[in-house]
Amino acid sequence: MSVRIRRLRYRDLPAVGRIERAAFGTPWPAREFAFELAKPSGLCLAAVTEDGLAGYLVACPQGRLWNLRNVAVATSSRRLGVGSTLLRALLESERVAGSNVVLEVRESERGAIALYERFGFYVAGRRPEFYGDNHEDAVLMWCSSPRR
Ligand SMILES: CC(C)(COP(=O)(O)OP(=O)(O)OC[C@H]1O[C@@H](n2cnc3c(N)ncnc32)[C@H](O)[C@@H]1OP(=O)(O)O)[C@@H](O)C(=O)NCCC(=O)NCCS
Repeated sequence: MSVRIRRLRYRDLPAVGRIERAAFGTPWPAREFAFELAKPSGLCLAAVTEDGLAGYLVACPQGRLWNLRNVAVATSSRRLGVGSTLLRALLESERVAGSNVVLEVRESERGAIALYERFGFYVAGRRPEFYGDNHEDAVLMWCSSPRR
């Protein structure tokens, strides 16, 4: 499957909403994505196939770190390398390469954790009962993106 990475746009938000609601029990509302898209410093990427939007990734700088805030792939496009293509694009991007990248992930999201470990993220800590909906722990993961 051919996957192209480009910037995420406001006009993607309806398709983002569909993917987000299928991916998460507590999906971000559209205004959260709009807020991230409005940040000049953020990095919001779209993965596009011949069928349209297949996934997206949202990251923003926090001081000297980058925070990977959201990544999701359409159910029908999973395990085809879309998530990997998005992560690679982030870690190899001019602005992020050479920086430390952090993220929080639900401990039950074993697939996402496996994906992150494949890209060199390691577990740096836990936030007990971080998620209000089910009191699940967040796993804090960290990686040093190689310099370009
Ligand atoms: C996590 C997610 C983004 C992965 O996207 P994807 O496009 O399916 O990932 P890839 O195809 O690039 O997977 C690359 C590797 O990651 C690992 N992986 C991905 N999903 C996995 C799963 N469900 N179970 C186990 N390993 C998994 C595997 O090692 C996989 O390689 P393989 O397919 O050769 O075995 C996608 O499953 C998703 O949107 N999940 C719901 C939202 C979510 O949990 N987001 C992360 C929150 S922080």
